Amino acid sequence: MNPTIELLKSHRSIRKFKDQQIPRELFEDLIRAGQCAATSNHVQAYTIIHVVNPESRRKLAELAGGQTYVESCSDFLVFCADMKRATESAEKAGADVIRGMTEQLLVASIDAALIAQNVVVAAESEGLGICYIGGIRNNPQEVSDLLKLPEHVYPVFGLCLGYPDQQPEVKPRLPLAAILKQDAYDDSQDEHLVARFDDTMARYYRERTGGNKDTNWSEQLKPLFTSKLRPHMKEFLNKRGFGVK
Ligand SMILES: Cc1cc2nc3c(=O)[nH]c(=O)nc-3n(C[C@H](O)[C@H](O)[C@H](O)COP(=O)(O)O)c2cc1C
Repeated sequence: MNPTIELLKSHRSIRKFKDQQIPRELFEDLIRAGQCAATSNHVQAYTIIHVVNPESRRKLAELAGGQTYVESCSDFLVFCADMKRATESAEKAGADVIRGMTEQLLVASIDAALIAQNVVVAAESEGLGICYIGGIRNNPQEVSDLLKLPEHVYPVFGLCLGYPDQQPEVKPRLPLAAILKQDAYDDSQDEHLVARFDDTMARYYRERTGGNKDTNWSEQLKPLFTSKLRPHMKEFLNKRGFGVK
């Protein structure tokens, strides 16, 4: 079996970490591997903030909704979409730069996600565990102030890195037929495929919690769509100069 594919298929988020530091050299290598991700037009529209200050880590854990592993992991990174550096560079080269395009928001957010996922795969290949922290967007302005993020930079998500102190099971994914379509979008089988997946997830939760968690995928999604999720994001992004045009 191809070891890279094996590694990818063994991913699971880690939320309990050993009190063990990632060696600095390895840490930097992970980031360098991350940088090799494809990037839209070679724009590299991201900046990573490596948060080492313990008080900042404590504050970020709190701002992310009390996620203690933000504090207890070896290294915590905040991946920021960054259009500042690239637009200023083009400006210095003589361009009459247009800022604030929605497309720029997409490009920078996608770039940030791609470098992060490369860091994740590199980290997991070294036996490290990771957990993305979208929770930092609960309080994006406070996070931006804490990290002194300038205009045209916004925090997309955080990432915990460290040595796993738990071995959770791999979480099932939707059947291939639900997410892979040939030639055109066809959802005629989706209801049936989702029902099957709901059974799979119900079994997964039951087994993982010794019968204590009686839910499934569709049920789990309900809170996501029955309240306005992070309604502050539009105004926050606009204020930072993203996605206004
Ligand atoms: C962008 C993003 C943000 C996430 N934010 C959080 C978070 O704030 N807290 C958390 O515990 N997990 C977070 N996760 C992890 C997901 O819950 C997890 O990836 C998903 O349930 C699938 O489980 P698995 O990673 O173990 O396969 C996030 C994942 C992504 C991709």
